[in-house]
Amino acid sequence: MCGIVGYTGFQDAYDIVINGLRRLEYRGYDSAGIVLEDGNNKLEVEKTKGKVEDLVNISSQLKGKAKIGMGHTRWATHGVPSDRNSHPHLSNNGKLAIIHNGIIENYDTIKTMLTGKGFTFKSETDTEVLVNLIQYFMDLNAETDFPTAVRYALNEVYGAYAITVMHEDYPGVLVVGRLGSPLAIGIGDKEYFIASDASPFVEFTKEAIYLEEGHMATISLENGVDIRTITENSKIIPEIQKLKLSLEQIEKSGYEHFMLKEIFEQPKSVHDTMRGRLLVEEGVIKMAGIWDHIERFKNANRIIIIACGTSWHAGLIGEYLIEEYARIPVEVEYASEFRYRNPIITDKDVVIAISQSGETADTMAALKLAKEKGAFIYGICNVVDSSIARITDAGSYTHAGPEIGVASTKAFTAQLTILSLIALKLGKHNGNLGNADFMSLIAELDAIPKKIEDVLSSTHELVQNIAKDFVNATNFLYLGRGYNYPAALEGALKLKEISYIHAEGYPAAEMKHGPIALIDENMPIVIIAPKKGHYDKIVSNVQEIKARKGKVIAVVNNGDTQVSEMSDYVIEIPETSECFSPIVASVPLQLLAYYIAVYRGANVDQPRNLAKSVTVE
Ligand code: F6R
Repeated sequence: MCGIVGYTGFQDAYDIVINGLRRLEYRGYDSAGIVLEDGNNKLEVEKTKGKVEDLVNISSQLKGKAKIGMGHTRWATHGVPSDRNSHPHLSNNGKLAIIHNGIIENYDTIKTMLTGKGFTFKSETDTEVLVNLIQYFMDLNAETDFPTAVRYALNEVYGAYAITVMHEDYPGVLVVGRLGSPLAIGIGDKEYFIASDASPFVEFTKEAIYLEEGHMATISLENGVDIRTITENSKIIPEIQKLKLSLEQIEKSGYEHFMLKEIFEQPKSVHDTMRGRLLVEEGVIKMAGIWDHIERFKNANRIIIIACGTSWHAGLIGEYLIEEYARIPVEVEYASEFRYRNPIITDKDVVIAISQSGETADTMAALKLAKEKGAFIYGICNVVDSSIARITDAGSYTHAGPEIGVASTKAFTAQLTILSLIALKLGKHNGNLGNADFMSLIAELDAIPKKIEDVLSSTHELVQNIAKDFVNATNFLYLGRGYNYPAALEGALKLKEISYIHAEGYPAAEMKHGPIALIDENMPIVIIAPKKGHYDKIVSNVQEIKARKGKVIAVVNNGDTQVSEMSDYVIEIPETSECFSPIVASVPLQLLAYYIAVYRGANVDQPRNLAKSVTVE
């Protein structure tokens, strides 16, 4: 999704904005732009379709010229990716510049009104409409100052936005606003930073304000940060947060891609997610978020898990875990479907939202609906203080650290870790999981980081060799049963999103109800076949595939013979309880997708058309 960077202070604004945009590249984008105030109260804009480096090629003359500026990476919504549609956009009088993340839903009506007043538009964007609406309010009454005009305009629009606006007659001033899309303000010593997340300014300051929904701020060196509500203009005293993010966490540390780095971080990220929660020696799971609301969970009619994409796959495994160990009925819903199908929700329901970014618009909207209906809302987010984390009644962070690669890897295994902890904790508490089983399961869970470490070292080279044989594949099937059916869905999603090879995940037994028709000697089939978990049935499925000459890549436990003998390629992983096996089995599948994509020359960290946090519905 779009990335926003702004700066006002004493340093070269060009360098700060361009480096900030580079940090936000992971969000996914198709064009980039910058605007600076050149010291003579003139705005200078450069923008282009393409990457930040393309912007650098056309804008380096701006270097050293300004102490205030802002930049944008655009992920197209209204209007194709093009130079014209790129941000920043200027108002008709050329005095105002805006950058925007989100969608102005009523832009058409406003555009018609402005056109009637003589305004013209150079782009197809909703954003250009907004900046002209601000000009309109300033033109209407000479007394209306810049921040007031922004506020008037924001009161006229609906949709989702994070905006930053500059006015050439207001040197040193940035006006920002937020509804639905995130925006952080970094507070330095005689300098201020604006960004979609803290990564562009983390090396300059550790203090930040996360602008709240429906708030705007006027930021200037003279008067600091003045925060108001957009509707009432009421003054807000902000909470200044201390950032825990470090520069090292958001750099590649010698890996070729963030995705590979994040795959290799999983022993640590899973361990960090359990740290302080899973206390094996004491035989307890400590999770304040669950414990403080244990009666809500205990008395829940059902648990509804809502999420999108990879997080939805984690939710499916969560369903298996919670139903097996806590015996509470669980439904898993795509957030985008849940919201629009008039679901039955009562105040006896518990809704668990899973989101790495904590900003996914569909998940957010579904949560708001469930909240309105009185359900208890629990969040599983990776990004601390994200929008979803803030609207939930309670929650648990996955402490996976920043995930920069667009394809989710370590966030997924961390989500599975949290869901395992929740299921075991609830099961133990409500008496469905006996003490002996509980103790053995927590010991097994505690051993998972080491098992991931073993898988990474034992399969890394092997998977690279397997990947080489499938660089030209056009289709893939991923099969699994039980807990590993969602793991198969996730394996297929990883491959398709970064390599652009069509891939489908299926429950292995369903194969004979359709997909078996696709199998011939050209069809690679990844099959997840750990010992614990319907192994004999999987053996039959492999036989069915081999009878049709399909190419089997099997993920099996160390020392496996039966499936291995029938398979063309074998990836061995250590044994664990069936319920935790997706955490371990996912790791070689992530590597497989990664290396196939790398060998095909794909942009692994920023796959085409995808965004890291999807802040539009
Ligand atoms: C796939 C992927 C997406 C996200 C989905 C939800 O690798 O990353 O499918 O899982 O967009 O995002 P979050 O978890 O941030 O709500």
